[in-house]
Amino acid sequence: MEKEIFIVDFGSQTTHLIGRRLRDLGLMIRIIEPGEALGLSEKQRPAGIILSGGPASVYEAGAPMVDRRLFTLGIPILGICYGWQLTAHFLGGKVVSGKKEYGPGTIRLKNQKAKIKISENLPQKFTVWLSHGDSVVRLPPDFEIIGSTSEVKAAFVVHPQRKIFGVQFHPEVVHTEFGGQILKQFGKICGLKPKPQPLKLEKIIEEIRETVGKEAKVVAAVSGGLDSTTMAVLVARAVGRRFFPVYIENGLMRQGNREELISLFKKFIGFKPKIIQAERLFLKKLKGVTNPERKRKIIGRLYVSLFQEEAKKIKGVKFLAQGTIYSDVIESKGSKNAAMIKSHHNVGGLPKSLKLKLLEPLRHYYKDEVRSIAKQLGLPPDLINKQPFPGPGNAIRIIGEVRRSRLVKLRQADAIVLAELKKAGWLAKVFQSFAVMTGVKSTAVKGDSRFYGEVVALRVYTSSDIMTSDWARLPYDLLQKIASRIVNEVPGISRVVYDITTKPPATMEWE
Ligand code: XMP
Repeated sequence: MEKEIFIVDFGSQTTHLIGRRLRDLGLMIRIIEPGEALGLSEKQRPAGIILSGGPASVYEAGAPMVDRRLFTLGIPILGICYGWQLTAHFLGGKVVSGKKEYGPGTIRLKNQKAKIKISENLPQKFTVWLSHGDSVVRLPPDFEIIGSTSEVKAAFVVHPQRKIFGVQFHPEVVHTEFGGQILKQFGKICGLKPKPQPLKLEKIIEEIRETVGKEAKVVAAVSGGLDSTTMAVLVARAVGRRFFPVYIENGLMRQGNREELISLFKKFIGFKPKIIQAERLFLKKLKGVTNPERKRKIIGRLYVSLFQEEAKKIKGVKFLAQGTIYSDVIESKGSKNAAMIKSHHNVGGLPKSLKLKLLEPLRHYYKDEVRSIAKQLGLPPDLINKQPFPGPGNAIRIIGEVRRSRLVKLRQADAIVLAELKKAGWLAKVFQSFAVMTGVKSTAVKGDSRFYGEVVALRVYTSSDIMTSDWARLPYDLLQKIASRIVNEVPGISRVVYDITTKPPATMEWE
């Protein structure tokens, strides 16, 4: 397997962009914490190490640090902004707080005596993007300045023998001209072969084959979502019948989810996943439960225990395949919800008790890359554009107790919302859309008689970062159509309201 470049994350907003740029160059990367940098690097000998930027000051109490022995491993290092200041601080230079500088600057390269690979093919002058308060005012021994801006003398520096490099600017952002070129040269210095390349399916499949070997079996929980389906098709292509996909029917998924999944499996894999019918069991455990967090826990635990039971039945199974994608890896460190996404959707916690090795073929890929892989596999647009769906499913879209009758109504209403948005060309424009059983009752008149039925809320929103969202400005006629269809076609629904609250303060889901 190709060697990775480690990116030590000191908390910069653009750390993940560094990863993205390197990935675009066809390099494998892994983002790690400062505290684990030395241990992991000694053990795994990455091809290179990038120290990211970060908001701290190296002299500040509690500033994130790496063990200084990281610099003695003989592995090429590129320090970016804070990463470079830390490098200078550890190796005998001096860092001071100075004028804050944000935005573009012009870097001028010096006439270099030695031929230095990192600045190969760069013009004498180009625009860079800076965002810093501190600067390195005295270089550590044997470092050489190869470029300066008007404000920062040591803006681009090298230690040619030890292959340690520093940039005060951010090569990963698009506003830095030739930033990609600098990262590419760093990759070359690390002994890698950066080459912008389209994602190669064969390479991913071959890697799965190599990891699994010729005999081992692989089990996976599949949900019908884009990530787990793409993962399943890749694993099946790599190991064929040694792949044992399992679908747990919890009764909480969207209408038609299981049927769609089975038909995709038949078409793209050639065999069906094992279906575990557990709708009744889930409903039994959810009986009387109204607290959203309890619902989540109950569903998560039952899911894991059912899957575990199933996995144990497969003799000689060695691997657990998961559809973890790159943003899961990043997000599971951060937001509360992302951590939940991981703990449920990616069945976190399973490997330990099952003693299975993890197989995560999509771990390095961003969502748009996963879409491109799915497209290359020939998977249909409906799957490629499928909305993310929460692990606890419709249970958190039913306020109050989850009963079969309410689930049936919600599935029906939800299917109407999806169908109408699709027909009107709105589905691709929104991030998520669904109906909510609000638990509120209101009066309606149907035919000649009055009746008292449940109010359904519509939640349809756009979002580019999941942290924030805005309600979709759906045309009135479309809203009208959806509302009429729901009250007319779904028994027991008296009224439909449209939720026009942004996130923040409201979360996307109602629970
Ligand atoms: P909120 O409601 O927090 O949702 O604004 C943000 C995103 O996370 C999804 N979500 C979940 N996904 N398990 C999941 O797998 C959960 O418990 C969960 N809660 C929210 C939600 O659908 C949205 O995309």
